[in-house]
Amino acid sequence: MKTGIGKDEQGFRPIDLKYLKGDFQESFEIFYKTEAFGTTQYVLFVSADPQHQDKARKLIEEKEGTEDFFIKEDDLNKYYCQATAHLRDMIADPNLSLEDKTRKIYDVSKEIMKDFFEFNASPKILKSSEEVVEIMDDCLSDADADFHAIFEVTSNDYYTYTHSVNVGLYCLAYGVKTEMGSNDIRNLGLAGMLHDVGKSKIEPDILNKNGRLTDEEFEIIKGHSPQGKEILESMRCYPSCVLQVAGQHHEKYDGTGYPNGLVGEEIAHFARICKVTDVYDALTTRRSYKKALAPFDALTVMNKEMKHEFDHKVLANFIKFMGPEL
Ligand SMILES: [Fe+2]
Ligand SMILES: [Fe+2]
Repeated sequence: MKTGIGKDEQGFRPIDLKYLKGDFQESFEIFYKTEAFGTTQYVLFVSADPQHQDKARKLIEEKEGTEDFFIKEDDLNKYYCQATAHLRDMIADPNLSLEDKTRKIYDVSKEIMKDFFEFNASPKILKSSEEVVEIMDDCLSDADADFHAIFEVTSNDYYTYTHSVNVGLYCLAYGVKTEMGSNDIRNLGLAGMLHDVGKSKIEPDILNKNGRLTDEEFEIIKGHSPQGKEILESMRCYPSCVLQVAGQHHEKYDGTGYPNGLVGEEIAHFARICKVTDVYDALTTRRSYKKALAPFDALTVMNKEMKHEFDHKVLANFIKFMGPEL
């Protein structure tokens, strides 16, 4: 295996070797990081040459969990293609519980969204989320969707990337529970996962500010909704129901939401569902300035104090699915 040195630190992304088992779908280079003379160097660990794949496989198995490995940012899509193919194999294991399957899918989804939000990866990376939504749909549809299994694995610490995955999973489970068609379930799950992509355009200082936002800052935050729609529109691969969720998930049923003050059923059905799951996840996750509410308390707040914001039927369904074991 030949050795080379990467020059540009910015162009490398950390990866997890455990997702690279099985045959490679497409070849790409893998690097490890060394520090020498005060500088960081990325040394070639696996070349992209298909002839080296057997050797690469052995090395990957030996090194799993031992060192930090990296790939070039341009290869992220190939990496996630490999990771989701491996995920599909793992999920097919009949001995794995729904919770374990959900946890594995959650981990890969989280990495995809983290690359997008925290490392400013290109929106092209979002294409990989379609694959994980599909895998999650297969899993939940087989196992009689269980919101509680999902709630068990969702992160309680709020980051935009974990929030995105949580909302995606809640939307997907909502679609399965209400017996939507398979296409709708996947589009709804995807729309939930991508609803806040516009936040990638907002300054982190404003997005993560502790405490009250000024009016001006709030106006900037509000922009994430139309900006998200624009990002997804520019990719020219998403149906209008997915774009609508990005653009309308802050509209409120009574017309007091933003950006357009739409009322009732003027708001797209999927956006009304996302509104409920979005608020639920915001309430049940912890931020530096607030505690996480328990599911029962969050649903009580939503049903008593915020009811005017939601489509009552969607809220009632959501409470019914989340409710029995609360
Ligand atoms: Fe939002
Ligand atoms: Fe959100």
